[in-house]
Amino acid sequence: MRETHDGMSVTAGELHALVEDLVATLDEFDVPNAEQEQLLGLLGPMRDAIVEVESLETGQPLPATYQAAPALRGVPAAVAAAQTLGISGFGTVSEL
Ligand code: HEM
Repeated sequence: MRETHDGMSVTAGELHALVEDLVATLDEFDVPNAEQEQLLGLLGPMRDAIVEVESLETGQPLPATYQAAPALRGVPAAVAAAQTLGISGFGTVSEL
């Protein structure tokens, strides 16, 4: 988790925004509080590995020095499988 987010200058505010969106989504799907707390309890301890800037700012651009990680190897296979099964919404292999 630390390696993935290293050098992104993720702020505390951005992590709060993620948690807000997550809770709103869980509420939308009527996920009970106990399960929500279980999930947030797992994410909470990851804070130190993700947040690099103690500020409530959000929407900060990625630093110019940041280099995106290579695409996950499993993704093209999943997209191809969805295409074969006729499941829409995953894009097509040629778009990857
Ligand atoms: C608890 C909160 C978070 C969790 C559990 C989490 C988890 C992850 C995971 C699993 C990945 C994929 C790693 C991989 O491809 O190997 C990822 C990538 C990424 N995360 Fe997070 N993340 C969190 C918060 C954030 C926040 C707050 C931001 C920025 C506002 C952020 C920005 C990104 C970006 C840009 C990537 C793509 C990295 C790349 O492919 O180069 N994450 N995150």
